[in-house]
Amino acid sequence: MTRDYVTINKDVWNADAENWVQGGARLWSSDPMWGIWGLPEQDLNLLPQDMTGMTAIELGCGTGYVAGWMAKRGAEVTAIDVSDQQLATARRLSKEHGTDIAFIEGNAETTGLPDAAFDFAISEYGAAIWCPPDIWLREAHRLLRPEGRLVFLGNHPLAIICSPESGAPAEARLHRPYKDLWGADWTKVEIDPSGICFVLTFADWLALFREIGFEVENYQELYAPETQTEMRAFIPAEWAQKYPCEQVWHLRKPG
Ligand SMILES: C[S@@+](CC[C@H](N)C(=O)[O-])C[C@H]1O[C@@H](n2cnc3c(N)ncnc32)[C@H](O)[C@@H]1O
Repeated sequence: MTRDYVTINKDVWNADAENWVQGGARLWSSDPMWGIWGLPEQDLNLLPQDMTGMTAIELGCGTGYVAGWMAKRGAEVTAIDVSDQQLATARRLSKEHGTDIAFIEGNAETTGLPDAAFDFAISEYGAAIWCPPDIWLREAHRLLRPEGRLVFLGNHPLAIICSPESGAPAEARLHRPYKDLWGADWTKVEIDPSGICFVLTFADWLALFREIGFEVENYQELYAPETQTEMRAFIPAEWAQKYPCEQVWHLRKPG
């Protein structure tokens, strides 16, 4: 991917930020839940239960609700996002919720923050999908202390290879090659164009983790609840009840 995906994605998110205000406000007021189906934290365990005394960073924080959940669990939280419009919402909601979060406007691939400054890093559809893994994972590794953990949630590769090139909803057939999968360019699709996002094959994720120096602690594939009937983010519930549309990697930087 040689196009300037950072600027493209920043422009997409600035233009779309107003559409995320309501959802962000709702999530700031709710218990932690994850992904497009809002799966409960008690089933997934993405966050440490007690974060008192921990330093944590959210990479690509959007409206900042994940940062808010970590602050409410006692962590000292930093949150970075490339979109000033998304950050404006995050800052306002943080103030309303009385949380003290260090918000930074910048690229999660090059935060400029010191080495080994964090015990915990997380990204839910932030750097996790909008930055090339080979770049942002190295930055996350640098930011973590030895024994620090990184959790990230994003699109499952199946969701990308089952999505038509037109941008139409995912189907139960293969629309793109799996071999050499890198992500998807949604900028010129016919239906609801957006930015450029990234995902790898399983083998490539594992090879990259090994190369950077992460150990895998857990891996989760997320499905839609059986009670769901609607389509979310171009994933029909019926599809996601049979195929995982999202994945969560839990990584550790060895001591
Ligand atoms: C979907 S939001 C993620 C926040 C939230 N968890 C959510 O799911 O709504 C995606 C965010 O990633 C941010 N983003 C995209 N590329 C980025 C980059 N290179 N560095 C930092 N943030 C980035 C966007 O600005 C956007 O606010």
